[in-house]
Amino acid sequence: MAMKNIAILTSGGDAPGMNACIRSIVRTSNHLGISVFGIQSGYQGLIENNIKILTPIDVGNTIHIGGTILKTARSDEFRTKKGRDKAYNNLIKNNIDGMIVLGGDGSLTGANIFFEENNFPLIGIPCTIDNDLYGTDYSIGFASARETIVEAVDKIRDTAASHERIFIVEVMGRDSGYLALESGIAAGAEMILIPEYKTNLNSIVDEIKKINKEKKSLIIIYAEGCKFGSLKKLTKAIKNNIEGSNVRYSILGHIQRGGTAVPSDRILGTILGNK
Ligand code: F6P
Repeated sequence: MAMKNIAILTSGGDAPGMNACIRSIVRTSNHLGISVFGIQSGYQGLIENNIKILTPIDVGNTIHIGGTILKTARSDEFRTKKGRDKAYNNLIKNNIDGMIVLGGDGSLTGANIFFEENNFPLIGIPCTIDNDLYGTDYSIGFASARETIVEAVDKIRDTAASHERIFIVEVMGRDSGYLALESGIAAGAEMILIPEYKTNLNSIVDEIKKINKEKKSLIIIYAEGCKFGSLKKLTKAIKNNIEGSNVRYSILGHIQRGGTAVPSDRILGTILGNK
């Protein structure tokens, strides 16, 4: 039986390109005669029955905008069977035949559990700046975040070079070092520390010491998931062990998740949404 009504939600951390994908889903569905229901604020909105129809006009002028026009949330209630049952009942109540979930690791894991429990037709679209999902080379949002990080590090490098300082820049990625790795390569970092590479504080400091003999200004990209000591601890260890070192750290934080989606995220969002 052909589907008549589908629903979309965005869940977990927002990612630039989510709007391009929503737009593509809505416009493709409209072309096929399928109605699209936008669920507000992720799974939580589904539990609370916060659902409204999305028209092609509603998604106009959104292809470039970061964040998500549907809003997002990390729902603790959806982690419980009771919460997921409420969500399922609302889909049935609204005559929805299938659902598309835009999100990262946690959100798609939730979608899979929901599918297994209810056998409800579901599609997951990989959207996360972390690029830590199985089955896709790139997730929507990754390229935009990489762009933001490289732009920020280029600026920090000006100060690092002028003051001959060592700068440690912490980037997001949760447990994955992918975002740090590609941003670090593109920014020409002297060192990239990622959780996948097992090392310890002493070896890192020894390595920095060696590089610092040749070059006083250094950029070290530090993935947030690294387990070998906090940023403060690393900064202190460099200060204490490398004579004459001038070291600072900088945490880029949520600036990495926002902003205009780069063309490749808009294209990926459009292609996946259309599919
Ligand atoms: O999954 C995306 C991400 O930005 C991670 O890189 C980061 O660890 C996490 O979300 C931060 O989550 P929140 O915005 O809930 O603090």
